[in-house]
Amino acid sequence: MADLTCSQHAHGGNVYAAARELGRSVDKLIDFSASINPLGPAPGALRAVRRARVLEHYPDPDCWALRQALASRWRCDMDQIIVGNGSTELIHLLPTALRMRHLLVIGPTFSEYAAAMERSGGRVTAVLADRADGYAPPLVRAIEAIGANAPKRKASLPIDSVLLCNPNSPTGQACDVKEVAALARAAQRRNVRLILDETFVDYCVERSVLPVMDDVGQAIVLRSFTKFFGLPGLRIGYLVTDADTAQRIRARQIPWSVNALAQEAALAALADERHARRSRSFMVRERARFLRLLDRLPGCVPFPSQANFVLMELPRGWHARAVTAALRRQGIVIRDCSTVPGLNQRSIRMAVRARRDNDRLVRILAELLGSR
Ligand SMILES: Cc1ncc(COP(=O)(O)O)c(C=O)c1O
Repeated sequence: MADLTCSQHAHGGNVYAAARELGRSVDKLIDFSASINPLGPAPGALRAVRRARVLEHYPDPDCWALRQALASRWRCDMDQIIVGNGSTELIHLLPTALRMRHLLVIGPTFSEYAAAMERSGGRVTAVLADRADGYAPPLVRAIEAIGANAPKRKASLPIDSVLLCNPNSPTGQACDVKEVAALARAAQRRNVRLILDETFVDYCVERSVLPVMDDVGQAIVLRSFTKFFGLPGLRIGYLVTDADTAQRIRARQIPWSVNALAQEAALAALADERHARRSRSFMVRERARFLRLLDRLPGCVPFPSQANFVLMELPRGWHARAVTAALRRQGIVIRDCSTVPGLNQRSIRMAVRARRDNDRLVRILAELLGSR
């Protein structure tokens, strides 16, 4: 278990900065750095945004209609759901609302939880997956760390919460529901709160605990409309937990943080089962094809993924920062993962996009890596 400090909280998706730097317009770039559904938002969501007549009122501060739809989908009470301005808003409410002092992160993973803890003055430690295990989430070590929780010295701060991102970003690895339930039981025995980030689980729905929340106990499950539902610009996500915890988090939320167009679009997106099915089957096929192409690049090691992105190691002698910069000059934006604690300097993450874009990336990568 290691202390984790996240001095650099880099994200994908900042195409505006790349466009300014290159003197190009955003639509001349191909963004592989944010993992957004390559089929775009559901047609119903686009129609809902076009038709919405909502600008003359404040948005519904209770997100009533959306919470009702989510409660019916997950067979829970509306009081158990909070909608936020992206799941990022909710992530940043957790440490203060729940008085979290020591978070155990199962990494390498998304940095925003550590950033939120740092902001509130909390401590973050991590158990990091091994490359030799294909970065499988180290749940056994996490359970051991929680089990050893009893503070030995008065000064030490016991772990009070544990974060698992399932499937995980940027590794693409996922745990099954039984494994998550075992972690949840271990956490509950030690009075540790389980935070489960299911932002990418719509691509492998059988891994989600939301349909079986009763088996999992007191978890906080976060979901997003950004990735699978393709609505990053609207900013909307939600969490599901027990009603008391939800009430404590909600008390910290600023009023009207979720705009009216986002609420309308999310509601329509949720109802569009056809688009969801098409999105999943496209991803299964195109991800497998993309992985095969990447695997043929000499010296490159792409890791299998359950999500809509692929983590890859560049050949020895290459640095992720240099390759990211070289691709950027050609209008292709990928995620440099060399500074992610637990990954090596050759690690990059690429979204799985439309076939044409993926082919272009592979071709340019082949030229670049073959140039030495
Ligand atoms: C694992 C994970 N969780 C949460 C988020 C935040 O998503 P949003 O705030 O757009 O809902 C991201 C965004 O990159 C992510 O990768």
